[in-house]
Amino acid sequence: MKAAIYPGSFDPVTFGHLDIIKRASKMFDVLTVSVLNNTQKSPLFSVEERVKILKEATKDIPNVKIDSFSGLLIDYAKSKNIHIAVRGLRAITDFENELQIAQTNRKLSHDELDTLFLNTSLEYAYLSSSSVKEIASFNGDIYPCVPDFVAKMVYEKYGFQK
Ligand code: PNS
Repeated sequence: MKAAIYPGSFDPVTFGHLDIIKRASKMFDVLTVSVLNNTQKSPLFSVEERVKILKEATKDIPNVKIDSFSGLLIDYAKSKNIHIAVRGLRAITDFENELQIAQTNRKLSHDELDTLFLNTSLEYAYLSSSSVKEIASFNGDIYPCVPDFVAKMVYEKYGFQK
């Protein structure tokens, strides 16, 4: 069975992430989208909220599973017996950082975890969870960036009703 993990913060999931999820789900029998529980960041949504949002946003893709993890990705992947991580690349700036992480993961895992990069569709290349949060915090329009129910949840966090 071909399986892969798509790890990330997903705070919140954007159309860019969902584009990667849809395309990667066609390449594998099972795609596990896993939310990093990063204690060093102060996220807008809790891990539980992000898992719930991802479940709702991917409910029409049967071979996508949603999970969460803490610690190193290589340890999590080993515990699931998965050998491929999927990551999206928007631009050359992503590539530098992602290449370093991918090389580190490969080295640390003794070649057990490889990374598959998918280029983000051009229409979403400008999108990031950080910009979605910044725009929403100033009551700007995030409906083009995230599913409607996610936009409403983000606005609520900043005290706006839309
Ligand atoms: O959505 P993000 O924040 O860009 O995702 C980054 C993520 C979760 C893929 C990355 O930070 C990660 O895998 N963190 C887990 C810790 C780890 O394994 N670090 C080693 C790589 S240097």
